Amino acid sequence: MAFCDLTGKKILVTGASSGIGKHAAILISKQGGKLIITGRDKSRLEETLKELSGDNHLSIVADLVIEDELVNLVSQLPKLDGLVHCAGIVGPTPVKFIRENDIKKMLRINFEVPVLLTSRILLMKKLVDKSSVVFMSTVATKMPYFGGALYNSSKSAIESYSSTLALELVKKGIRSNCLSPGLVNTPLIKKPVSDGQMEIVDESLGRYLKKYPMGIGEPDDVANAIAFFLSDESRWVSGTNLVMGGVLQ
Ligand SMILES: NC(=O)c1ccc[n+]([C@@H]2O[C@H](COP(=O)([O-])OP(=O)(O)OC[C@H]3O[C@@H](n4cnc5c(N)ncnc54)[C@H](OP(=O)(O)O)[C@@H]3O)[C@@H](O)[C@H]2O)c1
Repeated sequence: MAFCDLTGKKILVTGASSGIGKHAAILISKQGGKLIITGRDKSRLEETLKELSGDNHLSIVADLVIEDELVNLVSQLPKLDGLVHCAGIVGPTPVKFIRENDIKKMLRINFEVPVLLTSRILLMKKLVDKSSVVFMSTVATKMPYFGGALYNSSKSAIESYSSTLALELVKKGIRSNCLSPGLVNTPLIKKPVSDGQMEIVDESLGRYLKKYPMGIGEPDDVANAIAFFLSDESRWVSGTNLVMGGVLQ
């Protein structure tokens, strides 16, 4: 049997229309998993679907900050062996400019959505015993960058939630783990510039990169760790937070 074999496991990946979620979905399908992928952008989600290996995958377009769309997504789910929360946003705001609306927007998708989606999936009994839940945090919760107060706070909250979830679900053998990568080469941190090139979305993230002895990561670096946490090879691992990127403090 291949290492991190996911044959027949049914896995929901949010944020599968881009970046880490997209690459995770593709890798999971190569390992034999059956995907339910979700994202807001229909055409990019369809592109991910086309890149999946194997068949019988499902794609569901949903804006997860809209309650009806989240509820509708859960109603269409089969029983799951794995749940990967990749949907998220970043948005640099220096502390003195933070307003109530900025807090609501950041915490809504980065904290409330994974929490409410997990609750609803549990309530509807759609997570089988011995399944695995994976959350995305960031190395920045331990190593802050200028303007990252809201983003880092939303991710610190999800780290605490994940370890508590691990405790509450341990009797069912359901595991919960967090990944905390350093900067990863995805549209979250890069924007197109006029000559068709991409550049880091904001200056402070660019400066932050200087702290990276191993350089910027690729989405597949994170996807590999996600596959491990979903697989039976990690059956003895729960409540952890894997820091990735070789970032030295
Ligand atoms: N890239 C990094 O450097 C890095 C480092 C550490 C942690 N992370 C975390 O890793 C996760 C994935 O990041 P990424 O770099 O892959 O970002 P990305 O390429 O920008 O992808 C973000 C995904 O989230 C989805 N999303 C955003 N708002 C949504 C909403 N309201 N409803 C449903 N889906 C929504 C997007 O869907 P649409 O595109 O369809 O709108 C997209 O699929 C995030 O939680 C991020 O915080 C990223």
